[in-house]
Amino acid sequence: MSKQVDLRFNYTLTNLPNDSIVMVQTRLPQHPAIPTGDTTMASPEFFSYAELKQAADFVQGQISHQPAIGLILGSGLGPLAEEIEAAQVIPYEAIPHFPVSRAPGHAGRLVVGKLAGKTVAAMQGRVHFYEGYSPQHLTLPVRVMQLLGVKTLIVTNAAGGINQNFRKGDLMLIVDHLNLVGLGGHHPLRDPNLAEFGPRFPSMTHAYAPPLITLAHRVAAGLNLTLQEGVYAYVAGPAFESPAEIRLLKAIGADAVGMSTAPEVVVAHHGGMQVLGISSITNMTIQEINSGLETTEEETWETIKMVVPKLTLLVKGILAEIN
Ligand code: HPA
Repeated sequence: MSKQVDLRFNYTLTNLPNDSIVMVQTRLPQHPAIPTGDTTMASPEFFSYAELKQAADFVQGQISHQPAIGLILGSGLGPLAEEIEAAQVIPYEAIPHFPVSRAPGHAGRLVVGKLAGKTVAAMQGRVHFYEGYSPQHLTLPVRVMQLLGVKTLIVTNAAGGINQNFRKGDLMLIVDHLNLVGLGGHHPLRDPNLAEFGPRFPSMTHAYAPPLITLAHRVAAGLNLTLQEGVYAYVAGPAFESPAEIRLLKAIGADAVGMSTAPEVVVAHHGGMQVLGISSITNMTIQEINSGLETTEEETWETIKMVVPKLTLLVKGILAEIN
């Protein structure tokens, strides 16, 4: 047997009787969803602390700023990062283990610099479960931010409106979520638990920090911006939901639906970050098959363009006032 024992299997090997014959696979075939980094060391499903540290140390070596606030800019919302001053830009491909976004409207760059007087690390684009990544891979950037010292995370996304009081183009503060993919078993904390970050069984009662929600409302009022509030349902995608699925989501308390955010928020909250979540309502979802309507990607892109200026104003206003 090769001496090159794969450390990934250690925790199962220790429980085996002495006379067991053990086949150790020393090299996994390249996972198609992990295009960069040292894939021979990367677990197919989750990361070790050393791997997360390797990614964070790489980023630390590329930047001279010390970011305190993280921004995740969802579909089409990347232009917000263009406003960052003294920007130091790192393409995701360059960072060990970092997932690379292939979804349209996601540039795939980490931009570190100054925005509204605060030092921020902004993800210009994110990756999604529907691209083939495990929940642990798509949340690696949050762990990297935590290791860089980021204490507050502002997460944005595009979402379909379910609450009939919403209108296309609205901004919705997320007050809670339905992590439907996580409840179904694809949970970002399904791993041996890295106690360096947080407990095995974290509470999610205040995953969206009440003081940040209050602050966002105050800033929005000052800017004369209408802000909705609601529960975000996280689904896997990539297909838009059928009318029956939308009626189901409505019945279980969803105000909006999207294909991201909840895993990142769970990991951020597990690691002790203060989180603010903002959804851009890019389309109103369709609740009846004979409505004569269809949800299209084009509609979401059109609305995003309209939303970016007010989201930019809001985020900059919040940043200016965050302690
Ligand atoms: N459903 C899921 N995700 C979305 C939608 C939607 O209607 N709109 C934008 N992202």
